[in-house]
Amino acid sequence: MQRLRENWIGLLMCGAPLVAAGCVKAADAAPNVPLTAEQLAERADVERGRQLVVTHACGDCHGGGGNPASERWMVGWLDSTQTFQIGPFKTYPRNLTPDNVTGLGRFSERQLFNALRFGLRPGETPDVTITGMTPGEGNFPENPKYLAPPMPWPVWRHMSDQELWDIAAYLKRAVKPVSNKVEDSEGPPDFWASAYTVEAIGPYPAAPFPTARERRPE
Ligand code: HEC
Repeated sequence: MQRLRENWIGLLMCGAPLVAAGCVKAADAAPNVPLTAEQLAERADVERGRQLVVTHACGDCHGGGGNPASERWMVGWLDSTQTFQIGPFKTYPRNLTPDNVTGLGRFSERQLFNALRFGLRPGETPDVTITGMTPGEGNFPENPKYLAPPMPWPVWRHMSDQELWDIAAYLKRAVKPVSNKVEDSEGPPDFWASAYTVEAIGPYPAAPFPTARERRPE
């Protein structure tokens, strides 16, 4: 209603001889319709998520580096500069755009959260809230299927819940879908379970500060 009225005012202000570019422009420029609290919150979520993606080098592997304007942004493996050789296995950064067939469109934001917090492959892990970290407990899968290295989830898992949800929201809702089928990464039959032991990647949450390697400032 508000918008209709303002458009009318815009039209009335355009005298007949003036109905040229300027007036059309005035009528076209939609007045700012106030956003709902929900829409404002969603914008803030995706903008924080974008900042985290840009500053956490996701684009160094998944495409586009630190430049969301790059045509490679988040589209995943495109050429051999993005192939990793991990021991005898080749691994390929996946398409993180929300394409329904080749990208993250198939997965929920909760599955992306679980990928970043627990390293669980979204395509091979049920879409459930996980509350435990012992296989078989608190919905943690009995036989966890982990993401291949060098996806740095052991580091990203230390981000806060809010940060991980923001990343998931940004990737799913604010990146344009691009169709790019990435070949499946190769890997051992245990899906890297024996590579991701607490001894190898440290505990979650991290040991309290200060550990033996740290000190409080004098
Ligand atoms: C050092 C390279 C590297 C970086 C940096 C990296 N990734 Fe990955 N990522 C990978 C590889 C390789 C895979 C594929 C793993 C596999 O196939 O099992 C992957 C897989 C994923 C997946 C699983 C997608 C799917 O379809 O299964 C998600 C989600 C993901 N990465 C998100 C991120 C986010 C978010 C960031 C930044 C915070 C990031 N990655 C940074 C290398 C990287």
